[in-house]
Amino acid sequence: MRLTVIGTGYLGATHAAAMAELGHDVLGLDVDQSKIDRLNAGEVPFFEPGLPELLRKSLDSGRLRFTTSYDEAGAFGEVHFICVGTPQRKGEYAADMTYVNAAADSLVSVLRPGALVVGKSTVPLGTAARLAESIEQVGAELVWNPEFLREGYAVEDTLRPDRVVMGGHSGAALKQLAEVYAVILDAGTPLVCTDFATAELVKVAANSFLATKISFINAMAEVCEVTGADVTQLATAIGHDARIGHRFLNAGLGFGGGCLPKDIRAFMARAGELGVDQALSFLKEIDEINLRRRARMVDLARELCDGTLAGVRVAVLGAAFKPNSDDIRDSPALDVAVSVQRAGAAVRVYDPQAMDNARRDYPTLAYVPSAVDAAQDADVVLHLTEWAEFRAMRPSLLGAVVAERRIVDGRNALDSEAWRAEGWTYRALGRP
Ligand SMILES: NC(=O)c1ccc[n+]([C@@H]2O[C@H](COP(=O)([O-])OP(=O)(O)OC[C@H]3O[C@@H](n4cnc5c(N)ncnc54)[C@H](O)[C@@H]3O)[C@@H](O)[C@H]2O)c1
Repeated sequence: MRLTVIGTGYLGATHAAAMAELGHDVLGLDVDQSKIDRLNAGEVPFFEPGLPELLRKSLDSGRLRFTTSYDEAGAFGEVHFICVGTPQRKGEYAADMTYVNAAADSLVSVLRPGALVVGKSTVPLGTAARLAESIEQVGAELVWNPEFLREGYAVEDTLRPDRVVMGGHSGAALKQLAEVYAVILDAGTPLVCTDFATAELVKVAANSFLATKISFINAMAEVCEVTGADVTQLATAIGHDARIGHRFLNAGLGFGGGCLPKDIRAFMARAGELGVDQALSFLKEIDEINLRRRARMVDLARELCDGTLAGVRVAVLGAAFKPNSDDIRDSPALDVAVSVQRAGAAVRVYDPQAMDNARRDYPTLAYVPSAVDAAQDADVVLHLTEWAEFRAMRPSLLGAVVAERRIVDGRNALDSEAWRAEGWTYRALGRP
């Protein structure tokens, strides 16, 4: 089938390359000319493991190319995927729908009758029903098909998702989208066909659940900190209960990124508009628990440095919001780095992939090319993003260059015994 993918960021670029891999002819579209030029040249404009190989393979096959022209997209596509961003509105909790609305308007003006539009962006409840009106007026149809990919595993998650969710009110449209995903569905992937509202809700409900699980164990970490209990042992013990499970139960600096924080806030804002704000008031607490971890991390660093960060040299390991990504949107690591700097510390940041993005958005921090450079003469080391490189690091490597062997493990991911055995004062969130 001939598909277009509107918006070629983390979601759209991956989706476009993956759909070509499934055998479709794909045209990716973005308003950002430089992004389109790089994609056409076979270069992924962000870090995503496995995507450069898939992009080049799809370009070489002749089944994938990129454009900035909506006219070209309208003439080419039988099915159009909307993958543009829905960031948090400045100064508000609600989602900024500017990009989705603009993409939908541009598409409507070029759609061929009989075309199918598929919404993948994460949107407030009611968006699909609203967009469907103008799309149906030009003889096209809409299906809502939320995306669940995880950055760092985006290729795998797109080609082999846990489930496919499709919401709509036209059987023919749902059937057409099922044909697009035939290879995935034939492999036994569960399919949930539902209405617009449920499809929209599946995405924000899933993210709210995951955020709740993370903040739950981080709330337990707060209790552990005043009782001398160990949250990592607690998590292991409760996670053995199959009803609870171990995943997303790692206490630490909490969640960030371009999805969970803004999605739970937009969900709360929309619930308020719908008159069901009480149903989601717990999400406010989830958000606050999450943000309190960042403040606690700064306090721990201060405690370790005899009560003040003024004039202290701090090594920050990690800038991305999570490992295997260069995404720094709402990154807990950079939030902590900035707070520590504001408290008077001299901060040096190292991240294996996110340095360019961090330098662009946080130009006042100092960036160095390796963990050892960050740790040079440092009074304290803060481990803030659990890259494999940091987890595998021998304590003696940094021990040889720091001024003081003091480390705060913001991710509970380092081997505390190994660090202590090398003479480090090791502190972590939620542990003695
Ligand atoms: N990143 C993820 O892990 C992920 C996972 C699931 C769902 N989502 C959702 O997918 C959506 C996109 O997220 P992302 O992380 O890919 O965002 P992104 O910011 O990386 O990409 C958005 C792209 O859309 C382009 N764009 C903006 N306006 C446009 C327009 N009118 N026409 C064409 N292109 C336009 C931008 O230039 C940008 O390249 C969001 O709603 C997000 O919540 C993201």
